[in-house]
Amino acid sequence: MIPVSEPLLDGNALSYVEEAVRTGWISSEGRFIAEFERRWADYCGIAHGVAVCNGTVALEVALAALALPPGSEVILPSFTIISCVAAVLRTGCRPVLVDCEPDTWCLDVAEVGRKITDKTRAVMPVHIYGHMADMDPLNELARKFGLAIVEDAAEAHGAEYHGRRAGGIGTMGCFSFYANKIVTTGEGGMVVTDDADLAERARSLRNLCFRPGQRFLHTELGYNFRMTNLQAAIGLAQVERIEDHLARKRRMAALYGERLRGLPGLRLPAERPGVKNVYWMYGIVLDDAVPFDAAALAARLKENGVDSRPFFLGMHEQPVLRDRGLFAGESYPVTERLARRGLYLPSGLGLGEAEIDQVCAAVQRCLA
Ligand SMILES: Cc1ncc(COP(=O)(O)O)c(C=O)c1O
Repeated sequence: MIPVSEPLLDGNALSYVEEAVRTGWISSEGRFIAEFERRWADYCGIAHGVAVCNGTVALEVALAALALPPGSEVILPSFTIISCVAAVLRTGCRPVLVDCEPDTWCLDVAEVGRKITDKTRAVMPVHIYGHMADMDPLNELARKFGLAIVEDAAEAHGAEYHGRRAGGIGTMGCFSFYANKIVTTGEGGMVVTDDADLAERARSLRNLCFRPGQRFLHTELGYNFRMTNLQAAIGLAQVERIEDHLARKRRMAALYGERLRGLPGLRLPAERPGVKNVYWMYGIVLDDAVPFDAAALAARLKENGVDSRPFFLGMHEQPVLRDRGLFAGESYPVTERLARRGLYLPSGLGLGEAEIDQVCAAVQRCLA
């Protein structure tokens, strides 16, 4: 079976982890935390990085750092992972959904404009599968209405929008470093921001809101969302390798594109002018003319030795959220269609050309 993803733990990963073990710095103190934070923030073109234990809590820390009034509305796409809505709910805010664009699969900024009310305080664009959301018009809306932008760049390490890197454009950027990400720490995440006060708040929230002068006196409830030095050791080695990882992803996408372009019934990932798509995962979408859905295609691919993953099921269709009375009667047709017609193909950093040939031959057979 050709897997959907596997990590590439190359470069200095092993020697840095060995150093952390040898020196005994295995919790959240140690040189690799600060170095990883600095290197990643630098890479994103941003002043501050705050490492946390996964991407889900990075989103929660970012929203908590903004200290939005209870009941504030946060606009985000329905087509995303539940981590985004969970962060909004856990910080006492109300998630307001928008649909996504049919080609980039990222949030529809025109719809964001239509959903802004006097309670809206933030927007959370999610850069889907490696392609960035349309940040210029979003920043324009944010300026006009005084909104914070929390970028979810979990899937878009190194992606660019008119020369600026994902995570480095909004008020705050959030990353996941799960094992399938372009830069991984096994489990891990980071919040990046240019705002020194927000960075300081995120740092404090991550570490139980201990006060610098009076450690065990607390004026705010924080979390233990700390990353370990062991994880940061891997992270630092991964940042050192990011250009190679990005080149591998883009080569993979080029090879898939050459082989799949022109196949009837198939839509391939987009790359808008001025955007660098990093093709974190290579998604395909079945046209309506294809007489079966993505789940059936996935089953056929599996019979052909090719693993795949379904696209997100929209947040407005999630039982756990509907049961809380959220999004009743709401419909997002593009999201609903993508959930049923989209899947992503093997996209691991170690994927070779022969395997891509095999995957494409299987796709062709399954569609025939
Ligand atoms: C867009 C997006 N946001 C957030 C997350 C959450 O990250 P984590 O799995 O590290 O909690 C993911 C996870 O893959 C993701 O794809």
